[in-house]
Amino acid sequence: MVKLQRQIALDHFNDYARMDRWGRLYAAIDHPANFSFLVRKQRVLELLGDLTGKRVLDIGCGTGVFFPDLLELGGTVVGADGAQEMARTAWTKSADLDRERLSVLASTIEQLGLRAHAFDAVTCVGVIEYVEDEDQAIREVIRTTRPGGIIIVTVPNAACLDLWMKAVLAPFRWLVRRALSAIGRPPTSGTDVDRRYYTPGRLERLMERHGCMIVDRVFYFVDLACYPIRLLAPALSLACLRRLEPYHRVPGLRWLARGYIVKARVP
Ligand SMILES: C[S@@+](CC[C@H](N)C(=O)[O-])C[C@H]1O[C@@H](n2cnc3c(N)ncnc32)[C@H](O)[C@@H]1O
Repeated sequence: MVKLQRQIALDHFNDYARMDRWGRLYAAIDHPANFSFLVRKQRVLELLGDLTGKRVLDIGCGTGVFFPDLLELGGTVVGADGAQEMARTAWTKSADLDRERLSVLASTIEQLGLRAHAFDAVTCVGVIEYVEDEDQAIREVIRTTRPGGIIIVTVPNAACLDLWMKAVLAPFRWLVRRALSAIGRPPTSGTDVDRRYYTPGRLERLMERHGCMIVDRVFYFVDLACYPIRLLAPALSLACLRRLEPYHRVPGLRWLARGYIVKARVP
């Protein structure tokens, strides 16, 4: 039987949860990948601002790494994840948090099963790129957000140097992978599941065709020492990342940024 792309992605994330790999990505900044997750979280929290008295929905909440911060900012939080093991782990890991203000659901972005207009702010961090029907997903996100509420969506940036380098060096990558497999050491990237890359224009058009108004946009993970330097010299890459990240709002650097975030207002 052919597996749907959505199920492939959810199985992939269920495996992550079972192996307790997701939370570790946030544990320490000792690798460029960890840096990317931590700065993405920081940018999203900055865009959300004060959440006192607000109801927040974190869709694709993973293992709940955003929960402590969302609660700390004053929100009442619902986490939802389509991968059951992720949702289960998120709930288990939140045992020490204020559960009066927190709940977790195992439900997909396409069918959240939540009341319409129930949330003041909805975050969708690293999720849209995995769904099959992005319009259906955004429609459901908007349905759960109150009129005038805020939606924050993050995606991998298609218009960045790292991807261009990967495209140019694709034949070389193929050869290296073949060679590693031949000696019994097949490479594992950790993100072996298909995902889409978005140009900033594509993501903004997606939000706008469903009536949202873009109120802010930021780039993150400003990566000059990109592929293949990142793989060969991760310490150098990390040093560059630390230097450049403070300039993430400088327009001329967006083509180095591997991630893009929009903050949109629901009509
Ligand atoms: C890249 S992880 C991001 C997790 C978390 N937002 C974070 O930033 O740490 C993507 C998450 O989206 C979830 N996901 C993927 N497809 C989904 C879908 N169709 N509906 C709901 N969640 C989904 C995955 O299970 C996974 O937990």
